[in-house]
Amino acid sequence: MENTGINTKFRFDHNRKVRNFMCGIIGYTGNKQVKDIVLDALTLLEYRGYDSAGMAVSVPEKPTKIIKCAGRVTDLRKLCESNEIEGTCGIGHTRWATHGGVSDENAHPHKSGKITVIHNGIIENYSELTRKYDLQDKLRSQTDTEVVAAVLAHHFTGDPFMAIVKTVSEIKGTFSLGILFEDNPDTIYAVRNVSPIVAAFCDTGALLASDVTALCKYTKEYFVLPELHVAELKPHKITVYDLNGKEVAPEYITMDWDVTQSEKNGYPFFMEKEIMEQPEAIRKTIMPRIRNNLPSFEADGIPDSLFTESKRICVVACGTAMHSGLVGKSLIQSMINIHVDVVLASEFMYTNPVIDEDTLVIAVSQSGETIDTLEALKFARKKGAKRLAIVNVKGSTITRECEQVIYTYAGPEIAVASTKAYTTQLAAFYLIACRMAYLKGTFDEEKAESFMRELQKVPAMMEKVLDRRDIIHKIARKLVNARDLFMIGRGLDYSTLLEGSLKLKEVSYIHSEAYASGELKHGTIALITEETPVIALVTQACIVLKEVSNIREVQARGARVFLLIKEEYASSVTDKFEESFTLPDMEDDFMVMPASVALQLIAYYVSLDKGLDVDKPRNLAKVVTVE
Ligand code: G6P
Repeated sequence: MENTGINTKFRFDHNRKVRNFMCGIIGYTGNKQVKDIVLDALTLLEYRGYDSAGMAVSVPEKPTKIIKCAGRVTDLRKLCESNEIEGTCGIGHTRWATHGGVSDENAHPHKSGKITVIHNGIIENYSELTRKYDLQDKLRSQTDTEVVAAVLAHHFTGDPFMAIVKTVSEIKGTFSLGILFEDNPDTIYAVRNVSPIVAAFCDTGALLASDVTALCKYTKEYFVLPELHVAELKPHKITVYDLNGKEVAPEYITMDWDVTQSEKNGYPFFMEKEIMEQPEAIRKTIMPRIRNNLPSFEADGIPDSLFTESKRICVVACGTAMHSGLVGKSLIQSMINIHVDVVLASEFMYTNPVIDEDTLVIAVSQSGETIDTLEALKFARKKGAKRLAIVNVKGSTITRECEQVIYTYAGPEIAVASTKAYTTQLAAFYLIACRMAYLKGTFDEEKAESFMRELQKVPAMMEKVLDRRDIIHKIARKLVNARDLFMIGRGLDYSTLLEGSLKLKEVSYIHSEAYASGELKHGTIALITEETPVIALVTQACIVLKEVSNIREVQARGARVFLLIKEEYASSVTDKFEESFTLPDMEDDFMVMPASVALQLIAYYVSLDKGLDVDKPRNLAKVVTVE
């Protein structure tokens, strides 16, 4: 490919704030019917959250065929049944509207001239481009994506690569684009800035997608398209070019997920399946990291100096991942006596964080794509901090923004509500805390070994909770009609409840608040009535008596209390409760694990009994790439 001579660099300021959205992208070219592959892959991408779906199929010597609609992939499937769609090269898309409302017209793909485009991201200068190319009366949708298609069509004079490079040099914003050119009916082009694109070969052709979940059914080897590079996918060849036309060898990654992991395997919902998978996910996350009975990150390539030389730790994350950081903070502070901050990634920039070369920033993220977490990391890089990621998805953007990565081996998590990703993130923090304590001498070998023995008991203790899930279901049945609910606890229990409460509200739509029990009487107790059930968690020796007093305070105001208590402490609490559930005994520091499983099950069963779409709660998306 010739040097394009176009200077594209100046257009992109990688340090500026970026926004994009959560659309799903798939592309296939090969010897199978593309319609079936696209529909299957879009189903796998549904978990990202979307409101419209569409596909485009290349037809040799004819216009590219486009089918799209507002609604679900099942709606698109029906449309496909009533339309004749034959072809072996095409692209598909699930749209999560930000730019233009939810409508058939705004659904992707968008076509201009001979060019058809799907897009994940936001084109910031779309109105400038609309004016420049006089597109006002020509656009059929309200999307920025159609503007990209039109700019591509303007620049296309027979060479797809040149049209892409010229377009990329003009557009500002975040994008991953899948592009079909009518004159090249067996080829898909892709280019990206920030928003991810992965590509791979499968037995029957070549694939591209917005994330690996869509690929795991077809292949285990894939690569992440580098930013501002163009991929050209043909049935037997994938070529990657930089914007100067120089061919670049992609770096293939092997995925350790298998197809069955992204299927329901007989469970009614992914959330239940993923809750049940936790003992195995924890085993997979911890066992490769135990050497001579001690925690070890040797296989992850993480030098001990990362832990010994850091004077401060700052955890940045969002949602559930942030809650795992709160537990990590308690562990690290109590075991190593080093200061740990946990900051919501979306607030990070506004808190004037004190970050320097002595700070270890730990980013926690299931997807590895959350834009706020990514932005916080970029800030940390500028300040010279060391950056460690705890991430579930191999090769994701956050892993590439960090010097070191600890992968959680939870496998694909499809339900929007995070469960197994959370507890494997916790497992990573237990390993980190123990390694640090050992290295810094606050734990001697014997103590570290004993801590690791306890960690290895976690899967069995989780199983004990899972085996008694019918009792938890009984509790859940009594919560189904609640409008508001409180969860109370202290210390580690409070951190655990913050996650338990988030789980309940996101899947059941019950307004649920986790409160530090000691804080109740500073205001919140005014809301406690007979109508507000309270879930109390008691797993820490140091708080049992205080917690019991707080429970009595809410009971005195009429609240029905549902008690989750560590078995060992159950006999010291003789009060009457609406229901109670005993959690299997582990050392107090580890009780987060069985308690989290119980709280996840409560949320799950309430949602199930309310007849809700457990895996896809309203308004939520699995991968949040919008600031
Ligand atoms: C979304 C998901 C949550 C997740 C959060 C952070 O809100 O629904 O389950 O905790 O994003 O995502 P991450 O992929 O960074 O863990």
